[in-house]
Amino acid sequence: MHSPTASSLRWTGVFLLFTAFCSLFTPAVMVKHENFKTCDQSGFCKRNRAYADTITQSSHWKSPYDLDSKSITFENGQLSGTILKTVGKAGETVRLPLTVTFLESGTARVTLDEEKRQKGDIVLRHDSKARKERYNEASKWAIVGGLKISSGAALSRETEAGTTKVHYGPAGKYEAIIHHSPFSIKFKRDGETQIKFNDRGFMNMEHWRPKIEKPEPKEGEEQPLETAEVTGEDESTWWDETFGGNTDTKPRGPESVALDISFPGYEHVYGIPEHASKMSLKETRGGDGNYNEPYRLYNADVFEYELDSPMTLYGAIPFMQAHRKGSTVGVFWLNAAETWIDVVKSKSGSNPLSLGVKSAVDTQTHWISESGILDIFVLLGPTPKDISQTYGELTGFTAMPQQFAIAYHQCRWNYVTDQDVMDVDRRFDKHKIPYDVIWLDIEYTDGKKYFTWDPLTFPDPKKMHKQLQKRERKLVTIIDPHIKNTDKYNVVDELKSKGLAVKNKDGNDYEGWCWPGSSYWVDCFNPASITWWKTLFKYDSFKGTGPNTFIWNDMNEPSVFNGPETTMPKDNLHYGNWEHRDVHNLNGMTFHNATYDALLERKKGEVRRPFALTRSFFAGSQRIGAMWTGDNLAEWSHLAASIPMILNQGISGFPFAGADVGGFFGNPSKELLTRWYQAGAFYPFFRGHAHIDTRRREPYIPGSPYTEIITQALRLRYQLLPAWYTAFHEASTTGAPIVRPNFYVHPGDDKGFEIEDQLYIGSTGLLAKPVVAEGADSVSIYIADDQPYYDYFDYTTYSGAGHHTIKAPLEKIPLLMQGGHIIPRRDRPRRSSSLMKWDPFTLVVVLDKAGNAEGTLYVDDGETFDFEQGAYIHRRFQFDRATKALTSINIGGTGAKTAAWHKTMSKVRVEKVVIVGAPGEWKGKTEVVVSEEGAKESARKKKVEFTFHSAQGKKAAWAVVRDPKVAVGKGWKIDFS
Ligand code: GLC
Repeated sequence: MHSPTASSLRWTGVFLLFTAFCSLFTPAVMVKHENFKTCDQSGFCKRNRAYADTITQSSHWKSPYDLDSKSITFENGQLSGTILKTVGKAGETVRLPLTVTFLESGTARVTLDEEKRQKGDIVLRHDSKARKERYNEASKWAIVGGLKISSGAALSRETEAGTTKVHYGPAGKYEAIIHHSPFSIKFKRDGETQIKFNDRGFMNMEHWRPKIEKPEPKEGEEQPLETAEVTGEDESTWWDETFGGNTDTKPRGPESVALDISFPGYEHVYGIPEHASKMSLKETRGGDGNYNEPYRLYNADVFEYELDSPMTLYGAIPFMQAHRKGSTVGVFWLNAAETWIDVVKSKSGSNPLSLGVKSAVDTQTHWISESGILDIFVLLGPTPKDISQTYGELTGFTAMPQQFAIAYHQCRWNYVTDQDVMDVDRRFDKHKIPYDVIWLDIEYTDGKKYFTWDPLTFPDPKKMHKQLQKRERKLVTIIDPHIKNTDKYNVVDELKSKGLAVKNKDGNDYEGWCWPGSSYWVDCFNPASITWWKTLFKYDSFKGTGPNTFIWNDMNEPSVFNGPETTMPKDNLHYGNWEHRDVHNLNGMTFHNATYDALLERKKGEVRRPFALTRSFFAGSQRIGAMWTGDNLAEWSHLAASIPMILNQGISGFPFAGADVGGFFGNPSKELLTRWYQAGAFYPFFRGHAHIDTRRREPYIPGSPYTEIITQALRLRYQLLPAWYTAFHEASTTGAPIVRPNFYVHPGDDKGFEIEDQLYIGSTGLLAKPVVAEGADSVSIYIADDQPYYDYFDYTTYSGAGHHTIKAPLEKIPLLMQGGHIIPRRDRPRRSSSLMKWDPFTLVVVLDKAGNAEGTLYVDDGETFDFEQGAYIHRRFQFDRATKALTSINIGGTGAKTAAWHKTMSKVRVEKVVIVGAPGEWKGKTEVVVSEEGAKESARKKKVEFTFHSAQGKKAAWAVVRDPKVAVGKGWKIDFS
């Protein structure tokens, strides 16, 4: 062997420099910015931002919106009145009817409409058939409850000229202080202002006005002044607007609604998905590290989306919460039109001596929507859980999914034949890798005609189903909203003949391009469309599918390849002649909703919980199914970005969320794929997916040691399914997120408010910190409290608030258990979750520093709606240091089907109890005493084997109760004294 010469070293150096230089110019995959509007290119956004700038720069600005004092009435928890908007120099006014409704939940709802449009007293241009009113039906789709009016809300007796004060909320501790001139509202809790409306005067409702056509100037005459030049307003986008070669005809002229909403003393705001951004939202008006663009909500199919960006993505939830130590509040801006939200933070004007809980920073937001009424809900918390609950009461809780839906899903674009599907299925089994669902993307269809099978590649779907059925596996097929425009296709014939397609501005069926080429779009705003849609899913209609087939709804923004911003023209018309502009962000939800309804009625008498995945969503979509974050890239940065995105979905009320494991575009390295599975095991929705141009990457493909490590990650997910299912149950009854960020679990820990790269699973105390960096062999995990945290696998103890390093070689998943919890598991490896139905449980009792722990378990049949009639088990397990006993207590209710279900489950037992952080005094103990409710006298107190393992170095002591033979559905006690 000889050592390298100086010249070879020099050449290596040159080569390295050259490659580094080249990599600077490697074109990164990038979103096509030119396809999507910036605020400046979106007329109403530009106008409202300019309006805000004028106000900010002026020292004597007075908002032109005054609440007419004489108009105010207060009756049955609702204040009504008229806001007068002064326009023009002559003092002419526009009448805007206002309501402020106080709800039993402590939520206040503010609506504002425009009288002239409400009465239809306007003239549309271009002979448009559109509705004249401002869109007021978003609540019809989004709101399902929580509207009970407060009986306690009352006008305050203290009177102050020009102000109306209402006491409401729990014990009347909330106040709404409505200032008449200019109009503004302050919402107070416990005497402190939490939220302010129109404090900065940005409120704007663009009122209807006729277009004044200017006569063409005669030859030789001077060009008349543009109105803008006369009034100072920029009229250029009032009457029509062109972008990317498409012209929006705007038959109703300018009609935006906007308002500034401030959160005094709140430094952090979260929510308003979907963006690939930070969980704690960034400022949007420039400055170091800030964005220059507002966050945008305009559901769109954004090809190769970029990270750390306020650009719009596929779904929209216009719900924001503001958080500070000791308080969380929220606003829900119920508007389905294109919406932009500016966020700025400024030094707080709050009294620095005020108990020190308020932040020194105020967050000010500016909400701008293109059309519709103003409809805002104000939630005063005060905890993150209260916010989830109240928002969930309004828009609905997560639907309780079937058990299989929270297990692992295997997808790719595409499994190309029915043989291919069966082969993949067999290979999973051969490698003993668990999975529950295999997916078919668009290529299974006959020429992209949904509800058909390609006769050459899928000649025998029934046989394929049979094989899947054997292991109780499921199939998901994709059904998109665009219907191919072709001959001899009954679906398009029916769509057209029944008049159920979305119409263009002239009232004819709108035609555009998507996967099949020329297509029409089903208009699911129309109840008749839903009725028709249901018929298409019946087994004798969608032939070749069966009870184990479920549905994936994609492209429902809707994606239109040749449309403006890859979607529909805004002047298209929907059912009821509402313009697409008004309902755009709702569109995806209505389609998903129709599919959900169709899945409920595939066969008479067969009632099972539907599973439908959606890409596009709105507030309320959580009631229908799951979502995923669309077309990400097989890059480390996208793996990292998936975590804040999913956490944000959770705190925004739609927690059944996931990202394509492995990354959609591109080929992940084996290391990236492995790490992505280890992270994906903590996504509420866990699916591997890949683009058609990528190489195969099913977990058995990468080989040793990757395949084994991925299998371990999948097994971990299956082992913890009882904990996940319990977390889903909690979400479905309280609105709490399934995976939770630090601030949610520790709302008082201000050091953790921005932490967005680690997640707690439900209320289990499990804390995961996925590895998202190439080559990393450790992670730094943040612990917020002074409880002991134990490594899930080897019980290494981490204590003390702050950052801790966890070694994380490739095979290691950084996962801790917070002291104080009891975690339910099922430890027997199976091929699919359905095969675990009768498996026994393991309970992991993780003691807190005082030696106590508790946890819950929810179990039902994982399939039907029988749980609504009491067919479930809901237990609380409690380990009490004082009594030295672990007990199981019923916390479930009863219904018609409770007894039968308990009987079915009577043989399902707890087979093992592990106690982590076991007290040293148990050393030498070899048995514990178990008693079970209703046991025979002879078996009432049985002795059961017990082993104790002493602490070793940093590894905590632990103990095991082996097979206490107690039924999981019964009351029992294990006595450790
Ligand atoms: C869209 C979806 C992607 C799917 C593809 C083909 O890009 O986001 O998941 O594979 O369409 O249907």
